[in-house]
Amino acid sequence: MNNLILHSKDLNIYHISLFAFASTVVYLTGLAIYRLYFHPLAKFPDPRLAALTQWVETYYELFNKEGGQFYFAYTDWHKKYGNEFLPNELHIQDSTFYNTLYSITKHYVKVAHTQYRFGLPLSSFATSNYNHHRLRRGAINPFFSRRKIMEHSHAVQKKVDRMCERLQNDSMGVSRVLGLNEMWGCLTSDFSSLATLAQILPDSLVRWLSPQMFSVHKFNNDMIDQVQQIIDSRARDGKSDGKNTVFKALLDSDLPPEELSLHRIQNEAVSLVGAGLDTTAKTLSTTCFYLLSNPSVLQKLQEELDHSMPDPADMVSYDELAKLPYLSAVIEEGLRLAYGVVERLPRIISGSPLPYGDWVLPTGFPVSMDDHDVLTDNAIFPDPGEFRPERWLGDAVAPDGKKLSTYQVSFSKGPRACVGLQLVYAEVTMGTASIFRRFDLTLHDTDRASVEYYMNLVVPRPKPGVHGVEVFLQSLRA
Ligand code: HEM
Ligand SMILES: *[C@@H]1O[C@H](CO)[C@@H](O)[C@H](O)[C@H]1NC(C)=O
Repeated sequence: MNNLILHSKDLNIYHISLFAFASTVVYLTGLAIYRLYFHPLAKFPDPRLAALTQWVETYYELFNKEGGQFYFAYTDWHKKYGNEFLPNELHIQDSTFYNTLYSITKHYVKVAHTQYRFGLPLSSFATSNYNHHRLRRGAINPFFSRRKIMEHSHAVQKKVDRMCERLQNDSMGVSRVLGLNEMWGCLTSDFSSLATLAQILPDSLVRWLSPQMFSVHKFNNDMIDQVQQIIDSRARDGKSDGKNTVFKALLDSDLPPEELSLHRIQNEAVSLVGAGLDTTAKTLSTTCFYLLSNPSVLQKLQEELDHSMPDPADMVSYDELAKLPYLSAVIEEGLRLAYGVVERLPRIISGSPLPYGDWVLPTGFPVSMDDHDVLTDNAIFPDPGEFRPERWLGDAVAPDGKKLSTYQVSFSKGPRACVGLQLVYAEVTMGTASIFRRFDLTLHDTDRASVEYYMNLVVPRPKPGVHGVEVFLQSLRA
């Protein structure tokens, strides 16, 4: 569809016959899907088919090359056939449709079986039912609002300052290679202590947040103990212990009692912590990589930073940083080329059937898109592989006249969009500004392969054996 519709100026006989072929495939597959889903017997899952579908995806995710390859397989199928019927869903590559499928006004839900993917079925993240999700999500939203994050941003800056001081003490001018993925990993896990500082998670939980310790099972068990203590103290004293954490708020909220079980709270906590670690560190490292490999971009950024902060020790507030136009554009471009999460994000059409081009997507039917397809769409972001913050400047619009930010889909859109978005902007903005205001860095033995999407581990990963972004810390900037 991508090729056939978006670039219709390229239509020629080859495309037309391809389209005819694709239409036939689509028709036949549509028929199959009709039978599968809407035939009276379709209610009864066909185990053979389910097994088959499982295995197509499983094969590519586990056994093809180094694994994590299913995305590349169906991207090839798209090129051949247009819209792609994956075993149990329709997958669409058409950026202009993204905001329709992931619209805030639609009540489309996630596919229920994916709730077991991360072993946290009781988290907001995994909840499928629309109203149930709203209830759970509503309870955590206030902790991640822009205002709330702004209020606590000085704490983030303090962490960044400490990191910079450590770098200055330990790594400068000693030709020591610095792994940025690890460095930002430490910071973002520490940042999850922003969680603490923003009074989101109790201190005791945050101790477990370093990536090395992020062994899910151990983490889960420890978390259960911690949450149990909070619940116990609440039962004992009539109030929950300690600071105004998200748990306390959850426990003291109007949520019905069944929402306040130990496992429910623990699932929510682990998902909140887990969702932000790798994703944010990857975004920071990727942004650094592209800045260091585009000297003219870096120079512009540093001019802006120097101008607003003559003294590198004295960073302006996050509020001020967020108003710097070039820095903001750099952050958007870094988010774009970090590719967000690389999952298909299926949504089940509900309410009334959804028109799409010449088709009508029936209700009860899972439809998915990939953030990566939109973020790298040449029709929206020309020369998508180029790191070009300029594309975001001013009132940037996409070729279809919509605001370019419409296509900033790194956090997805709609009711299931990322709850941590404001936190991420704060971390990435302060981290990037501080490092590049204060230090001259050079890349060490790092090229694009270190940040490219080679395999899907929810976060896009480079080829195994390719190391992360590495730098030398050359000197302090005045
Ligand atoms: C650069 C960093 C991040 C990126 C690119 C990112 C991206 C995303 C995306 C694409 C989704 C939608 C997933 C889906 O539909 O299945 C999502 C959901 C979510 N994210 Fe993030 N995320 C980031 C950081 C964070 C952080 C720091 C937190 C923690 C506060 C967080 C918490 C969540 C939660 C709880 C959801 C589920 C929302 C729901 O279903 O209602 N994320 N994120
Ligand atoms: C950096 O070095 C100074 C002077 O030796 C010391 O006072 C400071 O605590 C060190 N900072 C860190 C974060 O290691």
